[in-house]
Order: sequence, then C-alpha cells, then structure tokens
Amino acid sequence: MLEWRNVIKKSSREIISELQSRREKARLGGGRKRIEKQHSVGKLTARERINTLLDEGSFEETDMFVIHRIRDFGMDGKTIPGDGVLTGSGKVNGKLVYIYAQDFTVFGGSLSSDHAKKIVKIMKLAIQNKAPIIGLNDSGGARIQEGVESLGGYADVFLQNALASGVVPQISMIMGPCAGGAVYSPAMTDFTFMVKGTSYMFVTGPDVVKTVTSEEVTAEELGGADTHTKISSVADGSFNNDIEALNVLRKFLSFLPSSNEYQYTKRKTHDPKKRISFALDTLIPENPNLPYDMKELIVSIADEYDFFELQENFAKNILIGFIRLDGQTIGVVANQPIVLAGCLDNDSSRKAARFVRFCDAFNIPILTLVDVPGFMPGTAQEYGGIIKHGAKLLFAYAEATTPKVTLITRKAYGGAYDVMSSKHLRGDANYAWPTAEIAVMGAKGAVEILFRNELNDPKKIETRTLDYEERFANPFIAAERGFLDDVIIPSNSRYRLIQAFSKLKNKTQKNPDKKFGNIPL
Ligand code: HXC
Repeated sequence: MLEWRNVIKKSSREIISELQSRREKARLGGGRKRIEKQHSVGKLTARERINTLLDEGSFEETDMFVIHRIRDFGMDGKTIPGDGVLTGSGKVNGKLVYIYAQDFTVFGGSLSSDHAKKIVKIMKLAIQNKAPIIGLNDSGGARIQEGVESLGGYADVFLQNALASGVVPQISMIMGPCAGGAVYSPAMTDFTFMVKGTSYMFVTGPDVVKTVTSEEVTAEELGGADTHTKISSVADGSFNNDIEALNVLRKFLSFLPSSNEYQYTKRKTHDPKKRISFALDTLIPENPNLPYDMKELIVSIADEYDFFELQENFAKNILIGFIRLDGQTIGVVANQPIVLAGCLDNDSSRKAARFVRFCDAFNIPILTLVDVPGFMPGTAQEYGGIIKHGAKLLFAYAEATTPKVTLITRKAYGGAYDVMSSKHLRGDANYAWPTAEIAVMGAKGAVEILFRNELNDPKKIETRTLDYEERFANPFIAAERGFLDDVIIPSNSRYRLIQAFSKLKNKTQKNPDKKFGNIPL
C-alpha cells in the first residue's frame, strides 16, 4: 500500500521550482571546478560559446535533460543532464541556425550514444528546416565507458553529415581536443576552423604515433591549428582565441545561404556599383615575368573592399573566398601570380575544386580571376597525381551550373586556360583585360619548340619570340572566336562584373539526369 505522503500532489509552484532547479543543474554542466579549469586554459564553456555566437537571447535549447544509460565502470547513477553536449537552435544576424556545442566539463565532452542522438536530432531538424548546422567541437572522443554503442553514435552522426551535405551548409569549429574517429565528422562538413593553441585534431595521438612509427611529435605539431591550416589543409582557417573565432564565424555565416534552395538575395551596400579603381589600369607590370598581388584586384572590386579568404596559408598560388558584389555573395577563385607564378599544382587544384563544388551546391555565383602560366611541371607533381588532381578542378568547373563569370588579367596558357572556367566549360560571361595573353604556351617556350634549329641564333629567336607574342599573346584572337565576350578596361572591372552577375540572377541550367557524376576524387 502506498504511504499517504507519496500521493500528495505537488503544488504548481513546487513543480515549476523543480523545473528551475533541474535547469540550473543542467546549466552548471560538470560543475564550478571544471568550469574554472576550462577558463584557466583559456577556453570558454559550451554555454558561453553559444551565447557569444548567437544573437542575444535567441538560443532555444533542446534535450537539456538527456542523460546517458551506461551502467559499466561505475557510471551507473553518475549522470549529468545534457550528457556533455548542448544542442538547439538560434539566430545569427537574424538567420536561423542549428547548433551543437560539446561541453568538456561533462565527461570531457566525450560522445555517448545519447550524446550522439542529441546531435543527430538537431542535424535532422536543420536538414528539414533548411538552416545551417554549426558544431562547436571540444571532446575527448568516444565515451570510453560505453564502448561500441558510442562508436555507433559516431556513425549515426557521420551518416547525417553525408545526408546534409549539399542541402545545408555545415561548419565545424574545433575548440578543444578532437581525436580518433571524431575527426571525421568535421572532415565531412563544408568548412572547419580551429582555435590556435587549445585545439587539435588527429586520428591517432602522439603516444600511439610513437609506439607504431617511433616518431616523437607533440600534439600541437601533429594536429594543431598551424599544422592543419598550413600543411594538411584539413582546416580552412584558425583564430587566436574562442571569442575571436566565434565573432569571425558570425561574419562568415553572413556570406552563406541557409540552404541549397538559395535564391538570389542582396544585402544593402553603400558602395557604388560604378566605383572606378584607376589603380587597376596599372596593376599588371610591363614586364610579363614580374608578379603582382591578385588580392589587390579582389579587394578593389569587392563591396566595401571586403574579402573573406579561406585556406589563406595553404596552396597560396590560388586564392579562394567570398566577396559581395552589389550586395550579392560571390565565391572567388583566383590564381595568385606572386606564389609559384600562380601555376596550378596538386594542392591548388584540390583546394579550388572543393570550393567550386561548395559554391555550385548552394548556387553561389563564382568569379574566376585568371593569371595562370599552366600546370606545374616535374616529377613531384606527376608522381603526386597532378593528372587526377587537376582533373578535379576541371570536372568541378565543367559540371557547375551556378552563374560563372571569368576575367583573364594576364596569362591563360595551355590546359590551365581551359580549366579556369573558360567559355568552353560553360562560362556565362568571359572577359579579359587588354593585357591578357591567351596561348597554348608562353612565347619563349613555343619558339624554342617550333624553331629548334634556330636556337644557336639569338637574334632570330628574339624576332620569332616577338612575332609569336604579337600574334598570340593578346586577348583578341580569343575574342574574335567568341571565346571571350569582351575585352574590358581594368579600372571599370567592378561595374562590368556586377552587371554580368546581375543578368545571371535567373539563370537556369541542368546537367543530364543522373544519380551523380563521378568526380576524380
Ligand atoms: C570518458 C573522458 C574521455 C573519454 C576525457 N574524459 N576523455 N571520459 N571518455 N573519451 C574525462 C576524463 O576522465 C576527465 O574526467 C575529464 O574528461 C577531463 O579529462 P582530463 O584528462 O582531465 O583533461 P585533459 O588533461 O585536458 O586531457 C584531455 C584529453 C584526455 C587529452 C582529451 O582526457 C584524453 O586523452 N582522453 C581520452 C582520449 C581518447 O583516447 N578518446 C578515445 C578516442 S578513440 P574527470 O571526471 O576527471 O573530470 C575514439 C574512437 C571514435 O574516439 C571512433 C569513431 C568512429
């Protein structure tokens, strides 16, 4: 028989106050001591991070009371509401986003199957409701006490990453440890950023590395922000601390559409469409062998001179990132003549190809700025698979149906001319400056092949070279064939590009029906 005390109903005030105390407990995560420890190493807590990233007061938390069901290794009854991850939705600059933030103060942010279920739930909501997914990662990996169920939990997240890909933008911010299979969820997202000094990513940590390969390496060297932004290209950018990272992420999100149903939208700008940049008329040096900084062109045409560069420290011979033109987000791909003369090589081809695909998946128009002497020759490149990596970029441009506008500033030689969003790959508007040189190869190389028997007569070779330059090293032969739509005055480029993109706002183009193309991965 029940004791009479047990059946007395709680008053509504008691019920509400119980809810409040449950909430407070959940908000404290792993407790004050662990929060202090988190702060002492320069990291914000998961809740502080979410509040910094989202518009004030916009966070709506889901699954705050979820707990794990692990019974082994003394975990029975050792539960903390939320189970090491905060999930929910909120707004960034007024736009809906779905977010999860791992809470390192709770079991080291480690992933249990219930922790994974929370992440999967909001990923499904993001896909259904067409809003970006943001993951703030800070985790010791799979919940060791749980075992295989937590591995299953990871796989459930990976599956959603694949399903969300191309539907909504997915962004990972690595703000603490990210090890083992846990690295593969960020790697499947569209963009990964890291915080310097406090975050690292690796498949196996320094101890395992030492056992297996006898290499001695620190966690920072193996998988710190410098490693992944300069050497591996796993990360697209890095920041000095949590606050800077989250503030820049807010800005980054402002460039992105909410989903692949993105339609042409414009943000207000006070930058005049017809702003002339006279400096561009003299940007190209008279000596064709001298470099110049392509960023000067990008910045001077962009609204408010604002260029959000990605992978700034990797494969610097190609530039990728976002600008706005008359308020519209544009993805930029540009050869950078000051690094390796702007040639295409393995790394730059891979870097640009993935970016072109992101833009195409989300209907973001692409501006391609071309000054490319060709593909980088040599055994290092051939053995590294330049044929396959170069083909990635070629394939990405060829299949892209998003608006594509191309401007050739100087060299467009050989196969690289074809690759860099040429007319032949369905470039919608292809322009060149009068300084453009469109040819099978540079004049010197061409003459040395065509007139090999005259090589011992420097005067003759010089005349031949000048003759070749005059005939081929200009934009007009390509313009005569219709491979260029116009040759434009450099200082007027901003206006011409804005005009070109604005005419493409209703573009529709379809590739033949298929499951998907087989890009040379
Ligand atoms: C359960 C964990 C945990 C984990 C950390 N903790 N990692 N609990 N499972 N994976 C707990 C700790 O016991 C500790 O609990 C608290 O989190 C903080 O951890 P510390 O070690 O005190 O912090 P710190 O010194 O900063 O070191 C962080 C760390 C270290 C480097 C991440 O904890 C670590 O090496 N953890 C194990 C990493 C790992 O091997 N994970 C499995 C990877 S394999 P208390 O109660 O003391 O606060 C994997 C497979 C996934 O993830 C495959 C998917 C396909």
